[in-house]
Amino acid sequence: MKKIVMFGICGKMGTSISRELMKEEEIELVGGFDIENAGVDIGEFLIGKKTGYKIYNSYKDIKELSPDIIIDFTNANAANKTINWAIDNNINIIVGTTGLSGEDLDNIESKALKSNSKTFIAPNFSIGAVIMIKISKMISKYFDNCEIIELHHDKKKDAPSGTSILTAEQISLSNTFNKSRLKEGETETIEGCRGGFTGGIHIHSIRLPGLLAHQNVIFGAKGQTLSIKHDSLDRSSFYPGVILAVRSMDKLSNYTFGLDKLINI
Ligand SMILES: NC(=O)c1ccc[n+]([C@@H]2O[C@H](COP(=O)([O-])OP(=O)(O)OC[C@H]3O[C@@H](n4cnc5c(N)ncnc54)[C@H](O)[C@@H]3O)[C@@H](O)[C@H]2O)c1
Repeated sequence: MKKIVMFGICGKMGTSISRELMKEEEIELVGGFDIENAGVDIGEFLIGKKTGYKIYNSYKDIKELSPDIIIDFTNANAANKTINWAIDNNINIIVGTTGLSGEDLDNIESKALKSNSKTFIAPNFSIGAVIMIKISKMISKYFDNCEIIELHHDKKKDAPSGTSILTAEQISLSNTFNKSRLKEGETETIEGCRGGFTGGIHIHSIRLPGLLAHQNVIFGAKGQTLSIKHDSLDRSSFYPGVILAVRSMDKLSNYTFGLDKLINI
């Protein structure tokens, strides 16, 4: 039986993933961590039925639960603090939170590699998104231009999405599209309308109610375009990736970034 604590348990992802974890036979959700609802029974909060396990807001209480794995779906600041605490306290951690800076991730990686615990970070837990990135990388060898449009619900705090950054980074390993955000002679009448820029690729972020998590990778060449589009229509799309990470944890090395490392594609 694996003992798991969910950080951000009161949020949209924390709630959705926790409800699914509670159905697994080999897993026991022994607590939650959140700045909201401290002291509330997790079962009562999630499914309206008491389990005897609570929501906490102190690392000391979480340590006393001796979890095998903690899972984090909070925000970048909170996650950065929690990951460092988990590594310092030899606790295995799975992170779905996005918005961590490149510098934060580099620091976490070097710390994790010297640690006695396992850290797994994935900016996107949906299998479809992982395949979209893989295919985009393949296509990029044959096209001269690429731009990414990522669309999310209006409550998303970080922009651009972690998935779009990862996609741009992966594509840039096989092709360099642009050296600078604006080409010579190109102007913006409204500042920012050519989007963000990383890995030689422009990223355009759309935030609207009604959306969940969507991405369109558009390649262009003379006389043609090719688009690869992925839509997460429901938060259930992330669960298979999360449970795969939980089940793979024992055989992972101390630091792993990306769900693609767990899928043979
Ligand atoms: N990796 C993926 O596949 C994936 C998918 C969807 C969302 N996400 C990311 O997961 C994160 C959470 O998304 P969400 O939609 O559930 O957000 P949300 O705002 O609904 O939930 C965040 C939760 O974290 C809690 N929280 C905030 N600060 C905290 C702190 N200091 N300590 C403890 N808890 C704290 C909030 O109270 C809230 O309950 C975001 O970074 C989002 O981009 C990742």
